[in-house]
Amino acid sequence: AHEFCAAAGGGGGGAGGCGGGGDGTRILIKGGTVVNAHRAEEADVYIEDGVVVAVRPNIPVGDDNVRVIDATGKYVMPGGIDPHTHLEMEFMGTVTIDDFYSGHAAALAGGTTMHIDFVIPVNGNLTAGLESYKHKAEKAAMDYGFHMAITKWNDEVSREMEVMVKEHGINSFKFFMAYKGSLMVTDDLLLQGLQKCKSLGALAMVHAENGDAVAEGQQRMIDLGITGPEGHALSRPPVLEGEATSRAIRLAKFVNTPLYVVHVMSTDAMEEIAKAKREGQRVIGEPVVSGLVLDDSWLWDPDFATASKYVMSPPIREAGHNKALQAALSSGILQLVGTDHCTFNSTQKAFGSDDFRKIPNGVNGIEERMHIIWDSMVETGKITVTDYVRVTSTECAKIFNIYPRKGAILKGSDADIIILNPKRSFAMGTRTHHSRSDTNVYEGRKGKGMVEVTISRGRVVWEDGNLNAVPGAGRYVRTPPFGYFFDGLDKSDAVYRASLRAPVRRGEAAAA
Ligand code: URP
Ligand code: ZN
Ligand code: ZN
Ligand code: ZN
Repeated sequence: AHEFCAAAGGGGGGAGGCGGGGDGTRILIKGGTVVNAHRAEEADVYIEDGVVVAVRPNIPVGDDNVRVIDATGKYVMPGGIDPHTHLEMEFMGTVTIDDFYSGHAAALAGGTTMHIDFVIPVNGNLTAGLESYKHKAEKAAMDYGFHMAITKWNDEVSREMEVMVKEHGINSFKFFMAYKGSLMVTDDLLLQGLQKCKSLGALAMVHAENGDAVAEGQQRMIDLGITGPEGHALSRPPVLEGEATSRAIRLAKFVNTPLYVVHVMSTDAMEEIAKAKREGQRVIGEPVVSGLVLDDSWLWDPDFATASKYVMSPPIREAGHNKALQAALSSGILQLVGTDHCTFNSTQKAFGSDDFRKIPNGVNGIEERMHIIWDSMVETGKITVTDYVRVTSTECAKIFNIYPRKGAILKGSDADIIILNPKRSFAMGTRTHHSRSDTNVYEGRKGKGMVEVTISRGRVVWEDGNLNAVPGAGRYVRTPPFGYFFDGLDKSDAVYRASLRAPVRRGEAAAA
């Protein structure tokens, strides 16, 4: 056990405890540049029992039982944390092809050592949803946490939200403003949910698209005879993402609770977040890898199998949006990078071969995120190495209140660590990836930087192209409520309450 257990660790939801691997493994990483979000330094890292024990220069090799890894000329960084994934998710009449084993294998091979997945309630029931996801996660090969979606509203759901936060370590709830007829919520539900989240110290997350207008846009395309994947982009343009983002932001302001906007895909949505932040509102914007580096030209590919790979929601946008989102990530308007890893193979995508509305929505990314962000953002000079650690790991740990157990290489942190060689190059695609999918939206992509070693809670799980992902080795990480985004919120509530009393005082003064 270690010092962060009491605050952020502990077993939960029937899953294991926190902290060390407990197998006595000792590792000394020598000669690298250790990068945390707050600084980079030349230092060695000593790991024992799954936990970082020391970070300083020239740590002597104690005895023969210590495994020494040479990191000269390389970056030693916290393992990636992916805030947004859908493993073994039932969606659009099928189930995502990567489960908590294959998804974790892919993640570890790509330098990601933790993710937070979205529990989907069963017929609106949160407890049944959690039971189902606990079972799915028994084969976990790396650490994971849960967000939970809210898909219907009644007193029972409201009570269950409290139970999820207080007993099951879930501190975030997602509201889908799209997917009419399945996951979509109304403004009424969103308002109830925002208020409940505020009272519990839980973070409200939104999938921001106007679902009613999307349904209208889809019918319009079908009426025009546009049934191919390009109809997906045409039916749900950026304006619908901008509208829903603005609406969610304003409702969160009305309730005075923090808001996390998932998969920001367009300039329209990003500008709404920028505006709210300028006005002092607590809004978090999450771009995903696909939105940062791809463009919608793929959706016009005449080959259905190619085009359908790129169908996700909100859609991948016209070139230009991606560069604007990269700039927003550089400047801090957007804070952390997810993937929305939600993979369907070519057979599943073919369900929509004569109607784009039936193409299961989602793309891969859990294995590719760390390399693509390094290559597209650090190699190009758009962000620094410390920023890289912040947007791929630390910020996620802070937002979901598990820092510094996760998201840092500090004494007492879990030993989730990667070693990246900036001189080597990567090439990605189905031939080498670890996802179960037969396709990859980053097929053939090459770039600079290679994660040579991944350490998951003190065990070397990826080294020189060899993967050792062990089913059942991953632990559930509880996320406690009232993360830093809630600090001082009570003060602005007090100011608001005082402002309501002002007219009464004027009346009293007049009467006196
Ligand atoms: O297309 C997507 N994004 N699929 C996953 C579900 C969601 O909306 O996050
Ligand atoms: Zn511990
Ligand atoms: Zn979504
Ligand atoms: Zn998603």
